[in-house]
Amino acid sequence: MTNQPDQQGISRRRLLGTAGAAGAVGLMTGAAGGTAGFAAVDSPTPITVVGSTAVPFHGTHQAGITTPMQSIGHIIAFDLVANAGRKSATELMRRWSTATEAMTAGRPPADDDQIALDAGPCSLTVTFGFGRGFFTKTGLDDRAPAALVPMPHFPSDAIDPKRSDGDLWIQIGADDPLVAFHALRVLQREANEAATVRWQMNGFNRTPGATARPKTVRNLMGQIDGTGNPKPTDKDFATKVFAPDKHGAEAWMNGGSYAVVRRIRMLLDDWADLTLPQQEQVIGRRKDNGAPLSAGEGGTETTPMDLNKFNPDASLAIPGDAHIRVAAPESNGGATVLRRGFSYHDGYDTDGQPDAGLLFITWQADPAAFITVQTKLDGADHLTRFIRHESSAVFAVPGGAAPGEYVGQRLLEG
Ligand code: HEM
Repeated sequence: MTNQPDQQGISRRRLLGTAGAAGAVGLMTGAAGGTAGFAAVDSPTPITVVGSTAVPFHGTHQAGITTPMQSIGHIIAFDLVANAGRKSATELMRRWSTATEAMTAGRPPADDDQIALDAGPCSLTVTFGFGRGFFTKTGLDDRAPAALVPMPHFPSDAIDPKRSDGDLWIQIGADDPLVAFHALRVLQREANEAATVRWQMNGFNRTPGATARPKTVRNLMGQIDGTGNPKPTDKDFATKVFAPDKHGAEAWMNGGSYAVVRRIRMLLDDWADLTLPQQEQVIGRRKDNGAPLSAGEGGTETTPMDLNKFNPDASLAIPGDAHIRVAAPESNGGATVLRRGFSYHDGYDTDGQPDAGLLFITWQADPAAFITVQTKLDGADHLTRFIRHESSAVFAVPGGAAPGEYVGQRLLEG
């Protein structure tokens, strides 16, 4: 018991540190306002804050784009029924927004099934997007954004069309599995006769508070994943991630973004056959701390990578086919994407292979940025041998709803 005062001192300091910071914004993270970052935070998250943290539904941008990644994710795509039309789509977006506004504030929606009744909002975010078919079925083709082009076929793709595309898309994130499932179930039921489920996928990330000193999340290959992402504090962050403001037919997309969704299977047994140095050469970063291979001893995750650095034997420190070299904006004429995905694991195949990988979601001002990077990666990236793109979709994600508005109102009623 001699060290009890010290233990109390530490936990009290940690609690005050985090609760104080959270309290200043009413226990809300400022995702919709676009201020939340991905950088590692030094103070651990006390468990009580996990439940009570709410992410505002209303804002310039929809939540779930710059919001810190939650531990549970569901993504679901719907097709509008053939004769649904604009009126039915409008009512659907209104119903979905009303239910989301309540759930993200920790309130039960109408006719609640009570799955999450005694839980707080747990950082729930719900993000809505429109696929190309949405515009056709609602008679709004003339207002479909020019940037919303179909994804091209990449040579190494193994795409399942049944788990691709969709008229409507919802991304749900929360720091509690029941809260996340509740939102999924409520929104799926609200689709009523207007839209039917096309595909649905489930993912996860590390639980808040699981590490004493939270860092960038790891993926199922064991790598620190997200280091090279643009940061909300970067000068040109908004230009890279959010659609440019426009007048006229596409003005409804102001404050919006484009989501590219790829279910990328990891060939984990092949990956496990590599030695640790081989794995690090494939990515171009150390596996334990995420330091670029150009940094040498003493490098950290945040040490800038040097693509021009050579080893004493005249080989490139970051190999020519290393993932970070081929994917970097410097190698792609500046093309930048914000990666904010979830890991997935859907059990084992009959041949004993894990059906696991990344629900890879990128956010960008124009899907052309993803297409540029993926075109380069598909031919030149060493990682391509250890992954398989199995499904693909792209959605126009409108700006956030102002109080009193529903998501997509400026498209459907503008
Ligand atoms: C399962 C598939 C993938 C895995 C496991 C993976 C893993 C990684 C890892 C470990 C890093 C280094 C740390 C970091 O900066 O986040 C990285 C960087 C990056 N990846 Fe991937 N990645 C995958 C697919 C993709 C795809 C499909 C794209 C884009 C089309 C992409 C784009 C990038 C970019 C832009 C970077 C940052 C490069 C820089 O430092 O500038 N990745 N990825």
